Amino acid sequence: MTDQLTVAAARDGRPRSTDEQLRRRARAVIPGGMYGHQSAGPLPPEYPQFMRSGRGARVVDVDGNEYVDLMCSYGPVVLGHRHPAVEAAAAAQAELADCQNGPGAVMVELAELLVATVQHADWAMFAKNGTDATTICCTIARAHTGRPKILAATGAYHGAAPWCTPRPAGVTAADRANLGYYTFNDLDSVRAAIAAAGPDLAGIVVSPFKHDAGFDQELVDPAFARGLRELCTEVGAALILDDVRCGFRLHLGSSWEPIGVLPDLSAWSKAIANGHPLAAVLGSGAFADAAASIFVTGSFWFSAAAMAAAIATIGALRDEDAIAVMDRMGARLRAGILDQAAARGLDIRYTGPPAMPYLTFAGDRGHELGSTFAAAAVRAGAYLHPRHNWFISAAMTEADLAAVLTATDEGFAAVQNRLPSH
Ligand SMILES: Cc1ncc(COP(=O)(O)O)c(C=O)c1O
Repeated sequence: MTDQLTVAAARDGRPRSTDEQLRRRARAVIPGGMYGHQSAGPLPPEYPQFMRSGRGARVVDVDGNEYVDLMCSYGPVVLGHRHPAVEAAAAAQAELADCQNGPGAVMVELAELLVATVQHADWAMFAKNGTDATTICCTIARAHTGRPKILAATGAYHGAAPWCTPRPAGVTAADRANLGYYTFNDLDSVRAAIAAAGPDLAGIVVSPFKHDAGFDQELVDPAFARGLRELCTEVGAALILDDVRCGFRLHLGSSWEPIGVLPDLSAWSKAIANGHPLAAVLGSGAFADAAASIFVTGSFWFSAAAMAAAIATIGALRDEDAIAVMDRMGARLRAGILDQAAARGLDIRYTGPPAMPYLTFAGDRGHELGSTFAAAAVRAGAYLHPRHNWFISAAMTEADLAAVLTATDEGFAAVQNRLPSH
């Protein structure tokens, strides 16, 4: 049977046979063959589904094709794959034990480190996924206020539980009954949503900047962040910062610290343990009793190895000045990409912070040009994404950057070839 993948393998000359076989086997035993954000199904056929290994800023698929990694596992890998100090810390803890009848001493050490590192935090709780963390924040806000309603920005992603999943399948009206919506960076819309919630408002959840998948990104207006803080204080609702995607990529503290806005509660996961499974909820002292009053737990939430990895990750972020490195390499990538697009007369939008950029083409509503660009870049060895923001890791070297720019130029050439004027 000839399918899309065989065609892709023939076209780009890169081997795909193991990936193809695994996809066939997966279709028989995994719903949809794959699910969730890492499904390669909606991506161009040049993308591998299954990966073999990674080190630093490079990853290798199951067929042995190597890529410079601009997705970083969709966010968790911040220092590069298999960072030596992080892996050593996790392995040393795992050698003692990982999943036990109680947490290791590392739980207290990590909580102390987070409280010392993140300005608004007086305490920390741990879980496994970002969705756990955002959901726990909402539960604590409700326990603290005794009120049911939560406001979120329209289109924002806060996880995959029924209250926030972007897909309607399996979700009931009751799952969303206590939610209201506002528009990011629009304080009037927040005021209107607060008025609609009336005396029922428990909290407002917000991302550090607008990073909705498939759309140009939008940095936060500091006046919006400050206004949100004031409104929450005024009506006695919790300000919940969803730092799951941005946390420890933009700042070694919560992401609104540089603009002087501190949330009451914040949700973390992805980068805090450089790829080891961990999430955290951080909060101010005023919310400590409510946090202690709720019952949340999970079989693997107290496993010690990921906590040891998180301690080492935060240490390495500091020692290697990793945030500045990502910012610098991201700025150089942005400059290189803008130059390439301009040289070819292509009208692009390159949005978001340098370390978490996203590229679209003007008027490319269905992402056809974006997909052409991404497919060519992947073929040329840069793993980026047509409908999701990219992530720069602190492991990116000069050689990696040069390889990415060679690949993105291939991407722009492919787009130019597709345009009618060509
Ligand atoms: C901003 C934000 N919040 C929450 C989540 C959910 O995290 P997880 O997929 O670990 O449950 C994500 C995941 O992409 C995210 O980007």
